[in-house]
This record gives sequence, structure tokens and C-alpha cells, in this order.
Amino acid sequence: MGTLDNKTALIFGVANHNSVAWAIAQKLAAEGARLAFTYQERMEQNVRKLTASMPDSLVLPCDVENDQEMDAVFEQVGNAFGGLDILIHSVAYAPTDDLKGRIAHISRDGFNTALGISAYSLIAMARRAEPLMERNGGGSMLAMTYLGSERVFPNYNLMGIAKAALEATIRYLAWDLGGKGIRVNGISAGPLRTLSARGVGNINDMFAVVERTAPLQRNIEQSDVGDLAAFLCGPASRNITGEVIFVDAGFHAMGLGSL
Ligand SMILES: NC(=O)c1ccc[n+]([C@@H]2O[C@H](COP(=O)([O-])OP(=O)(O)OC[C@H]3O[C@@H](n4cnc5c(N)ncnc54)[C@H](O)[C@@H]3O)[C@@H](O)[C@H]2O)c1
Repeated sequence: MGTLDNKTALIFGVANHNSVAWAIAQKLAAEGARLAFTYQERMEQNVRKLTASMPDSLVLPCDVENDQEMDAVFEQVGNAFGGLDILIHSVAYAPTDDLKGRIAHISRDGFNTALGISAYSLIAMARRAEPLMERNGGGSMLAMTYLGSERVFPNYNLMGIAKAALEATIRYLAWDLGGKGIRVNGISAGPLRTLSARGVGNINDMFAVVERTAPLQRNIEQSDVGDLAAFLCGPASRNITGEVIFVDAGFHAMGLGSL
């Protein structure tokens, strides 16, 4: 018996076996959920290989900037699953040039692209998931974020601005959808070695600083995010919404580390 038996989940953001979304998928599947995945075109082979071990899963193309593809994903999920219980948003992008250099020099196009893919996409997903979750009497939406939304992390730059918008979106959607029994939460994870993380210039230094500074004196792993996601999508978190929960070995609580 899993905590998510008979539940259905749609997961955006698997690129490869290191993806946060893949760790979440494995945990949701272990708890009994039936899964649908979307992939960005260039990731298709990876995602099909990974999900081959889940024969009852759906695997669908979707660029979150493409409204037709978004419509098609939710239509196919509705047809196959009847409704939807869980939505995972694990998607982010900012142009490399705008992740380094000066904030005052961030381009208008770079800003719009980053905010569109990394924050607006949650609204676009929520609008389409709402009727499917209503069919099931409610649901849980979850998005991935980082402490760079609240504090300055050199080289996180434009992504920090996008994460601030994403976290505000989580709270406003929680208010908007709460009356329908739909919860919306965020997970703020410590740094992890993934494809996207490579775009953040000083990622190795970040691991070292976390190990030195965090109360638990270590970095986290993808499975830590998977465990928290299963909790936030399951019945034990039924009265938690509009929340961003940290899984970062306590790093966010610190001012100064060891002197
Ligand atoms: N890795 C970390 O250190 C870390 C820490 C905290 C939060 N996060 C967040 O976790 C989430 C997942 O990132 P990850 O670290 O697993 O990296 P990842 O590269 O494995 O996943 C990012 C995903 O975003 C997808 N994506 C980007 N643009 C897209 C578009 N236009 N349409 C559809 N999909 C698109 C990519 O295909 C990829 O699957 C992101 O929101 C990221 O900001 C990561």
C-alpha cells in the first residue's frame, strides 16, 4: 500500500537521470502513482529510455512556451487518466549571458524568456490542470525553487529574479485554487549536480560553502527532494498550501557560517 495508490501525476522537467523531476517521479511511482511525463524535444531519447521501466506511463512532447503543445498534453492526460491529482513543475531556463555579468545589463528578451519559461509556465499549467483536478475532487501542484529568490547569489542572477516570481505565483495560485481543494506548494532545494546547474558559473564553490556552513554540514541529494515531494503530494500534507519548504540541510537558516 502506497500513500499515492490510485493517484495520477503529470511531471514536467525530466532531462536525464540526474534531473530533480526524475527523483520525484521515482518516489511518486514507488508510492503507487501512475505517471505522465513531458519532454523538451532534445531530451526525448533520454526520457523514453528512463521511463521504459514504467510501462503504464504516458510520455508526451511539450515546450512550455508552446500553447498548442500545452493544450495537447492536458487533453491527452485527461483522456488517458480521466482526471489528475498531482502536477510537478520542474522546469527553468535563463539565457547563459544573463546568468553572468551585471544585473543592470540583463536584456529585455532574456528577462522575458526566463520569466516566461521559469514562472509563467506554472500559471499556464495550473489553468489547464484545474479542470482535471476538479474531476478528482482536488489535487496538489508543486514547483521547484531556490534560495536565490530571496538572497543574492552571484551568478544565479536572472534566475533568482525568476524564482522570486515563481514563489509569488505559488502563493497567489494557492489562494486562487484553494476553494477547489487544489493545493500549490514549492520546494526550495539546496544545490544539486544537474544539467541546469552547470549553467550556474560557480556551482562547485556552492557545494563547498554549503558543506562548511549548513547546520547538517553536508549537501543534499536528489532523493531528498523526491521524499519531500511525495509528502507534499500526499494526504499527510492535506492542510499545507501556499508554502515553500526548504530541503537544504538547513543552509537557509544561517547568517554567517563557521568563523
Ligand atoms: N539543480 C539545482 O541545484 C537546483 C536547486 C534548486 C532548484 N532547482 C530547480 O529544479 C528544477 C529542475 O532543474 P534540474 O536541476 O533538475 O535541472 P534539469 O536540467 O535536469 O531540468 C530542467 C528541465 O527544464 C526543462 N526545460 C527548460 N526549458 C524548457 C521549455 N521551454 N519547455 C519545457 N521544458 C523546459 C529541461 O528540458 C529540463 O528537463 C528547476 O526549476 C531548477 O531551477 C534546481
